[in-house]
Amino acid sequence: MKPVLVTHGGTSSDVSQSDGCLAAAYAGHESMDGGGDSLAAVVSAVGVLEADGRFNAGLGASLGMDGRTMSCDAAVMDSAGRLGAVANLVEVPYPVKVAVRVTDTPHHLLVGIGALEFAKRLGLHRPYEPTATAVAEFREHHAAIQNAPERTSGSADDSQDDDGLAAIKQFWNFPGSWNDAIDQWAQNTVGAVARDASGRFAVAISTGGCMPALLGRVGDSPLIGCGFYAGPAGAIACTGIGEHIMRHMLAARIYMALELGIGLRRAIDDGMRRLPEHVEVGVIGITAEESEVVSRKPMASAQK
Ligand code: GLY
Repeated sequence: MKPVLVTHGGTSSDVSQSDGCLAAAYAGHESMDGGGDSLAAVVSAVGVLEADGRFNAGLGASLGMDGRTMSCDAAVMDSAGRLGAVANLVEVPYPVKVAVRVTDTPHHLLVGIGALEFAKRLGLHRPYEPTATAVAEFREHHAAIQNAPERTSGSADDSQDDDGLAAIKQFWNFPGSWNDAIDQWAQNTVGAVARDASGRFAVAISTGGCMPALLGRVGDSPLIGCGFYAGPAGAIACTGIGEHIMRHMLAARIYMALELGIGLRRAIDDGMRRLPEHVEVGVIGITAEESEVVSRKPMASAQK
């Protein structure tokens, strides 16, 4: 079977950044050419995207609402049943390398301080500075939270089309006042799906999270069946605002359609249709016969 690997740079990435996705696809493919399986390939590909600096993951992670914290999530899964994820991981430039090592433990998901201590034990803890782009975007959006109305009740749901700033203000849980912070808006995730020469499927995904967000917020990316899924029928990676993706368990929904024999493109379209039209969402997927990049907004992606 011909090995295939697909990468994306996030639903908010620009198509002009597809060169970064292509470099990642080449790296992953090279891993499979060298005898690596699909899991090693997607980890290699996502590692390149984390190192790129232009995408909201790893070195390019967006700044939190306090203007200091860069909290990342990452996950891997393959059709052999290997599954590992980390959430709310700080000071680790390559979270996907930590996620894949979770597959060597009895667990599937490590979060916060435990994930950090695990990363330290692996020698993968290395504090790093935000990119100039992350800082610029962070400053650019400062006015949004300042101008957000005060809110005393209500909850976010699928029908809301505001950006959640009023709720962030109401429930602010970073140290210090929201007024001292500057906000950021970002909803990027990077991801890769692959099929290796033996027909095994794998997915890897990494993100600097979705902003604006409260401290401790976790999106779809490290949650099985929400941001990612892989099994004998294929592999799926999602990108977009995690709260919408998780509410509809988008990756699992698409994967279950594949199991029923529905074609990849239709399975993705049917799944994405569940999300309100205003929500930016994208999906990459691979099966034994097909591969797809589907996004409501053109995004950086590549296939090798
Ligand atoms: N899709 C990335 C996130 O919502 O965190």
